[in-house]
Amino acid sequence: MASISSSPLSLMSFNVSSNFNTSSSLPYPFSQKHQPSKNRKPKHHQIACTSNDTNQNSPKEQEQKASPRRNVLIGLGGLYGATTFTNNNSLAFGAPVPIPDLTSCVVPPIELPDDIKNIDPPISCCPPFSSDIIDFKFPTFNKLRVRPAAQLVNDDYFAKYNKALELMRALPDDDPRSFYQQANIHCAYCVGGYTQKGYDVELQVHNSWLFLPFHRWYLYFYERILGSLINDPTFAIPFWNWDAPDGMQIPSIFTNPNSSLYDPRRNPTHQPPTIVDLNYNKANDNPATNPSAEEQIKINLTWMHKQMISNSKTPRQFLGSPYRGGDTPFKGAGSLENIPHTPIHIWTGDPRQPHGEDMGHFWAAGRDPLFYAHHANVDRMWSVWKTLGKKRKDFTDPDWLESEFLFYDENKNLVKVKVKDSANDRKLGYVYQDVDIPWIKYKSKPSRRVKSKDKNKSSAQRPSRKLVDKFPIVLDSVVSIIVKRPKKSRNSKEKEDEEEILVIDGIEYDNKTEVKFDVIVNDEDDKEIGGENTEFAGSYVSVLHVHDHGKNKKKKNNNIVTCLRLGLTDLLEDLKADDDDSIVVTLIPRYGNVKISGIKIELED
Ligand code: C2O
Repeated sequence: MASISSSPLSLMSFNVSSNFNTSSSLPYPFSQKHQPSKNRKPKHHQIACTSNDTNQNSPKEQEQKASPRRNVLIGLGGLYGATTFTNNNSLAFGAPVPIPDLTSCVVPPIELPDDIKNIDPPISCCPPFSSDIIDFKFPTFNKLRVRPAAQLVNDDYFAKYNKALELMRALPDDDPRSFYQQANIHCAYCVGGYTQKGYDVELQVHNSWLFLPFHRWYLYFYERILGSLINDPTFAIPFWNWDAPDGMQIPSIFTNPNSSLYDPRRNPTHQPPTIVDLNYNKANDNPATNPSAEEQIKINLTWMHKQMISNSKTPRQFLGSPYRGGDTPFKGAGSLENIPHTPIHIWTGDPRQPHGEDMGHFWAAGRDPLFYAHHANVDRMWSVWKTLGKKRKDFTDPDWLESEFLFYDENKNLVKVKVKDSANDRKLGYVYQDVDIPWIKYKSKPSRRVKSKDKNKSSAQRPSRKLVDKFPIVLDSVVSIIVKRPKKSRNSKEKEDEEEILVIDGIEYDNKTEVKFDVIVNDEDDKEIGGENTEFAGSYVSVLHVHDHGKNKKKKNNNIVTCLRLGLTDLLEDLKADDDDSIVVTLIPRYGNVKISGIKIELED
């Protein structure tokens, strides 16, 4: 590998192939220097997601977006973001997220697992770069590729995938198609390796509306490269069918230590037949007290129903919050990214490694072949979601549609793709094997016999918890907050038009720590609430991804500020609390130190 690696810190070397333009390929830390004159300032928003700025159907907003004026306005950082209004979209302007500035690639120092600590040249996180960028063209094909459920494939399929991945692993490290470089794509885009081209601000594809499109493109190219290595354009990657009982364990094709689909860095206690926990809490993982396999399956199905249906009534709830050109990241993850996507990463990763590698830290996640099967199911859920009702549609906001990424294709060309071209999986030439969707009718159950009387008072007065009414909250114990509802007793038309959303805002924590807390609504007395219960509205959970880019590296604190938005309409209906003036929200810290700046209820269309 032609890599420049003068840096003593592993994982920081800038990895450049001799085939590519190397004009500005200085090794870290020199490559951190940006040219400030060309770069716009990042916009710092302390409040992450208080506003509804995704109304895509307002003609006024469309006009605003098309107007050149918004390009002037994006320079005025202070005006943007926190000043968008719930019922007035006229300030919801921005720009699409541009391609990364490839020359800016840096990755902060990370302690590496023992067996890859001392390899020479050191592990890098930066894919090769080229200044020749071509525009994406849709593929031509005779037949759709069918991505199979991993637990259903036969030996021939396994042999084929094994062969393809073997060839991919055998490519030289500086070949952008190599498995090593495939993993680096994730590292660079997901650990703050890049800045947005033209802005001195980190590019991050998690925790926003870019999450699903980015990963769809990532899998698309991964699959095409594998297919080309075995000369089989019909090759399709498998999906880890964790939303159905017979797929809820690590698929056996990934567990043979002699195959190229294997990764030694996984949690040894989570091997088959252990059932995955879709809302995994690593602080409370004890084989002696964990639910039985049968119970875990039921809890998982309930989570799928909650996340795909109750918590996914609007595009923003499902796909994630708007993140535009020049924005600081972490605007807020969509429901699926939060649960089960993130807990599955942590559940799979190896707790014996420094940060739960490979799956448990974004720098390394792409080094486990299981990653691609995990994300294929995440991707499949996007396609399934669009079949679940007429409001389940992609954004039409131009800032989403026109956002761009760069990937290498099977011919080593650097290709520029747009979010809008990812929206339809069939146009990209693939579909998913048609399997059962067992969670559609799998509703949660209230933990108690519900009465329609307002129970808030007695619930909040539970002695074991602190009732708080001041913000910010430092979440170091269980707290309850009474939250007023903007409207009550809405009719079904109103509910269909607008979803009632619980907004937990300004969730703040150090980016080098992991956090998790659970959100419970209107629970009572001393009943322990589990994932199977309606009262369990959701969780906030993070995956480690250090980001020390752009301005951040000069700041004293490297805090992440984000938000969590949870659907209340189904939940309150099921708890027969629709006529109550307020709800009681209980926050249960699970691990990590978190501060929360506000909680409120919004209506979102
Ligand atoms: Cu980019 Cu599952 O992470």
